[in-house]
This record gives sequence, C-alpha cells and structure tokens, in this order.
Amino acid sequence: FFEKTDIQFRISESAVVGSKFDLERAVDLDVGINSLQSYLLKPSDNFLLKLHNQADGTKNVEMVLQKPLDREKIEILSLALTALDGGEPQMSGTMQIIITVLDVNDNAPVFTQPIYKGTVAENAAKGTIVTTVSASDADNGLNGKITFSITNTLDDVRHMFDVNEDSGEVRLTGHLDYEKKRNFHINVRARDNGGLTDSCKVIVDVVDINDNEPTIKIMSKSAIISESANPNTVVTMINVQDPDSGENGKVQCFINDNIPFVLKLTSNNFYSLVTDNDLDRERASEYNITVTCSDEGVPSLSSSVTLTLQISDVNDNAPVFERSSYEAYIVENNTPGLSIFTVKARDADWNQNARVSYILEDSSVNGVPVSSYVSVSAESGVIHAVRSFDYEQIKNFYFRVKAQDGGSPPLSSNVTVKILIQD
Ligand SMILES: *[C@@H]1O[C@H](CO)[C@@H](O)[C@H](O)[C@H]1NC(C)=O
Ligand SMILES: *[C@@H]1O[C@H](CO)[C@@H](O)[C@H](O)[C@H]1NC(C)=O
Repeated sequence: FFEKTDIQFRISESAVVGSKFDLERAVDLDVGINSLQSYLLKPSDNFLLKLHNQADGTKNVEMVLQKPLDREKIEILSLALTALDGGEPQMSGTMQIIITVLDVNDNAPVFTQPIYKGTVAENAAKGTIVTTVSASDADNGLNGKITFSITNTLDDVRHMFDVNEDSGEVRLTGHLDYEKKRNFHINVRARDNGGLTDSCKVIVDVVDINDNEPTIKIMSKSAIISESANPNTVVTMINVQDPDSGENGKVQCFINDNIPFVLKLTSNNFYSLVTDNDLDRERASEYNITVTCSDEGVPSLSSSVTLTLQISDVNDNAPVFERSSYEAYIVENNTPGLSIFTVKARDADWNQNARVSYILEDSSVNGVPVSSYVSVSAESGVIHAVRSFDYEQIKNFYFRVKAQDGGSPPLSSNVTVKILIQD
C-alpha cells in the first residue's frame, strides 16, 4: 500500500523529454515472494516508470517524461500508480498521480481572418468604427492576453485610424477626403504578453460623398465682339471639373435663355460659348452671360460664372434725316448770312461712326452754283443765306443736303430742301 492516496505535480508543458519525477514508494509488510515486486503506471502515454535498486534492497520509483506535455490539449492528467506483490493471490495498492500542466507561451495569437474589409463615407465623423479585428491565442492567462496595434509607419494611416488595443475596434481618427485617397491598407498586429505576434490587413474603402461643386475655369475669353461677327464665332472656352466620382462628378453646363449665344460641348469637360445669331450693337450693346454648371449628385451642387461681353460698333447705319424733305421760307431783301433753318440727321451707330457732317450737294440754280445762294454749316446743319434774295428775280429753288457719318467707309443719305422767297 501507499502511504498517501494521491500525489500532485505541477509540470510545465515545456518540460523536456527525459525529465524525471520522483514518486512515493509503496510498502509491503510481507516478505519474500509475497513482498513488493513491481509497479505499474497507467495510462503510460506521456510517462514511463523507472525503478532504481537501492543499497538497502528497496526500489526507488520515478516517472520519466517520454512524450512532451501540451497544456492546450490536456491541462490535467490523472495517472494511476499500482504496486504489486508476488503472492498468490496477488495483492496490490494504488495511488493517484495528478499532474497539472503549467502553461508556457508556446502559441502565438492568430487573427480570425487575414484580411478585413471596411467602408467609410468620406464625411464620416471621427470615432466611427470601421471594422473590428479579432484574434485568439490558445495559451492561458497573460500568455494568451492579446493587445492590438497599428504597425504602419511610413504612410498617413496612423493619423487616420487607430485600433483599440483590447477590443480590436478600428476607428476613424482623422479627416477623410475621397478626392485625396480612396482606400487605406492598415496593418494590424496582435501581440500576446509573451511577445508572440500575428498580423492582418484591414482594407478600408472610402465612399465618395458629393462634397465638391464643379469648378469652372475660363480658358480664353473675349471681352468684346464685333456686331458683325458671324454666327458660330467662339466667344469663350470653358473647362469644368468636379473631383467627385460617378454621378457626383458628372457635370452639365448651360447658359441663361434668350440671348444670341449657345454653349457647345466640344470635348470631355470643355465647352465653347459661340454666337448663334446675328448681333446688333444698336439693339443690345452688352450681354451678361451666366454659365451654370451642376453635377448629378443628390443633392446636386452647382456653380456659375457671369461673363460680360461688350458688342463693338460697326458702321452699319447711315445718318437719317428727321424728315424726308424740308421746306423753308425767307422774306426777300434779307441780310446775307441770315440763318434760315436747320436740317438734322441722326445716326444710330456709336462715336465716330455716328458723327454726322452736313454737306451741300453741288447743283445750279438758274445757271449759278447753289453755293452762291446758301451755305450749310458742316457741324450744325444750319442753313445760311449767302446773298440777299429778290422775289422778283427768283421765287423758289431746290438743293440737296447730304449727311455723312465719320465711319470708314462713311455712310450717307441726302434730303431735298426747298426754299421759298416771300414777297
Ligand atoms: C451686366 O451686369 C452689370 C453688373 O452687374 C450691370 O451693371 C449691367 O447693367 C448688366 N448688363 C446687362 C445688359 O444686363
Ligand atoms: C440721294 O439719295 C438718293 C436716295 O435717297 C440716292 O438715290 C441718290 O443717289 C442720292 N444722291 C446723292 C447725290 O448722293
């Protein structure tokens, strides 16, 4: 029999093969063949028994590790040590050996997935959880306690995300901008207390939000266009950009209605503003053309620019007399140089093209040049008598006055003037 019914061992799972553990000896009060003869250990998967003959004839008993222990498989082993005598009938005693296998950090953490994926809107608030990583460690206690960390060192990931070292929650900490960076590769490490590690990758896709309005760039523009410009004359070239993606970045441009211009899409993102009708400075000398570009996001963002276009004058209008003909009276015996009346013509053009001069057209009255009867002031159109008239000699006469503008070439018109001499 054994003095104790059981014996406890605490053996590290890292114990090497060949390690020895002393066991209790059994006692048998009989002698000779009836005394203690042998021991038996069951089960014998991990340990073998070894007996040493002592000088006093007794036997020392130990068990020797022959197959390594693994706490992660079996944490507590229960063996039975049996001592047998040689008597007839054979008698035996048994003792229980309880072995607690002590943990060693022989297992690294293992992520549940090698790659995690997450998506986050570019306007997501700081603190938004992108995904959660998890890992397990077969070891016990501190050897199995995992802490997570981000290991990216060279890129901007560290300023954008962090990982909760206990829960594995990956959170947004920075300000995302889809237009700058569309995805992030975060390297996350799981480390147990003993320093064993595993790593995984978290791929975060940034989702575009319609946060950019179109930008309109004027590539070239004319501030002035001649009223004689042909239809389809290019006034302005415009480039429009929207850095958002998909519908958020799809842009359409248009201009205000009821103006003699159209906006044509010339190539991707390029528009030209062209005339689509005849221009007339005398009708409209200036246009404010508003180009509006809107994207197709929901809600849509738009921007606009206003171009002011001056229409420059062309001498396309002749002076026009206020009347189709003139008639005036003068009492005979007048003083020479007397002003009789004034003709007046207007010109719809601008500036020099509208500066009217009056010219007496050459003709003769009773064989005498008309210029010896009347003169016309070039600037004012005032008609003066050059001589004193005598009703008995001449009762009336005609002449023509031409109004000419200062354009190049000049335009002109003329009018008939009848002078009646009164008795
Ligand atoms: C164009 O816009 C300017 C500035 O707003 C304004 O002074 C001008 O009267 C406008 N012209 C036309 C033809 O509407
Ligand atoms: C005067 O005007 C008429 C048309 O109104 C034109 O036929 C004629 O040639 C003009 N005369 C001169 C001298 O310019």
